[in-house]
Amino acid sequence: MSSVVRYLTMNNGLKMPSVGLGTYLLKQDILKQALDYALFLGYRHIDTALSYENEVEIGEVIHERIKAGRLKRNELFVTTKVPSVYLSRESAIRSTELSLENLKLKHVDMLLIHHPWGLVNRGDGTLVPFDSKGEKELCWYNILETWDAFEHVHNRKLTKSIGLSNFNPTQIQRIWDKADVKPANLQLELHAYWQQNVLQKVCREKNIIMTAFAPLGAPFKNDMTDGLPKLLEDPVIIEISDEYGKSPAQILLNFLLQKNIGVLPKSQSIERIRENLEVLDWKITQMDCERIEKLDNTVKYFPFDWAHTHPEYDKNQPF
Ligand SMILES: NC(=O)c1ccc[n+]([C@@H]2O[C@H](COP(=O)([O-])OP(=O)(O)OC[C@H]3O[C@@H](n4cnc5c(N)ncnc54)[C@H](OP(=O)(O)O)[C@@H]3O)[C@@H](O)[C@H]2O)c1
Repeated sequence: MSSVVRYLTMNNGLKMPSVGLGTYLLKQDILKQALDYALFLGYRHIDTALSYENEVEIGEVIHERIKAGRLKRNELFVTTKVPSVYLSRESAIRSTELSLENLKLKHVDMLLIHHPWGLVNRGDGTLVPFDSKGEKELCWYNILETWDAFEHVHNRKLTKSIGLSNFNPTQIQRIWDKADVKPANLQLELHAYWQQNVLQKVCREKNIIMTAFAPLGAPFKNDMTDGLPKLLEDPVIIEISDEYGKSPAQILLNFLLQKNIGVLPKSQSIERIRENLEVLDWKITQMDCERIEKLDNTVKYFPFDWAHTHPEYDKNQPF
C-alpha cells in the first residue's frame, strides 16, 4: 500500500510533521507521561497554546529528552498560540515571550493567533474573563496590528513561522493583503463531518497548509452536548475500518492526511497515542475517500458561540 505525507512543506519552505500530538485539556503528570511516550514513539510535532496552561510541563519533557540525548531540538516542531486576551500589539509580543519562557525554548516553530475574537485584557493574567452575567467579556482588537506583532516576533526569530487559527476567508485575505510575512498555516476544526471545502480552496490557492483540530470529532464533547452525532461511531467509518482492519480513528486521520491536511489527535492513552501515529504507511482508496466525503456538513463541534456578538464573528462564513 502507498503512504500518505509525513511532512507538509509550508509556503516559506519549512516542513511541518503531518501528525502532531494535540494537548488541549492535558495537564501535569498525565500530560508528561503522554508526551514522553509520544516522543518515544516518534511524534515530532506538539500542539499547545498559552491558554492550555500546560506549556511548562511540555517544556520540561522536551528538555529532559534533549538533555538525555534522546531528542534534538531541530527534529521537533512546537506550535503555540497567542490567546484572545493578548491580541493588542504589545500583548501579543509579550505573550510570545511568555510562552517561550514557559517552554524554556529560544523559538517555537509555529505561532498562531488562536482566534480572531478578542477578549478583555484585565492586566492580571486572566486568560478568560467573564462578566457578572457569566458571559465572556469580548473586546475588539485590530487583527492587522496583531499580525504586525507576529511579524515582529518572527523577525526577532522567536518563531520560525506564523499563522492563523479559526479565521474566516475574509479575515485571511485581510491579513494576506497586508502581510510582509505571509501566514504559513491555518489551524481549524476539520474532520469528516466538517470538511471545510471553502477554506481548503482558499488555502490551496495561497499555499497555506491546513492543520485539523478535532480530527476525531472531539468525542469528549459528546458527553457535554447530548444528541450530537458521534463521528467515531459513524456507520460508514465503522464499515471502512472493518474492511481495512484499522480503527475508526485511523481511518479518519488517514482520510485527512491523504488531502495533505495535518492532524492533531489528542490522547492521554498509551494505546491510542500509538494507534494515532500508525496512520502513515497505508492509504484508503479514492472510492473510500469519496464515501467519507459524503458525510460532510453533519456537525461543527466547536461553534464558538461565546463569540457570536463579536464584530469579527461572521456566522455566514466558514472558520
Ligand atoms: N485552535 C483551536 O482553537 C483548537 C481547538 C480545539 C483543539 N485544538 C487542538 O487540536 C487538538 C485535537 O483536538 P481535540 O482534542 O479537541 O479533539 P480530538 O483529537 O478529535 O479528540 C480527542 C478525544 O478523542 C479521544 N481519542 C483520541 N484518540 C482516540 C482513538 N484512537 N480512538 C478513540 N478515541 C480517541 C481522546 O480520548 P483519550 O485522551 O482518552 O484517548 C479525546 O477525548 C487539541 O488537543 C488541541 O491541541 C485547537
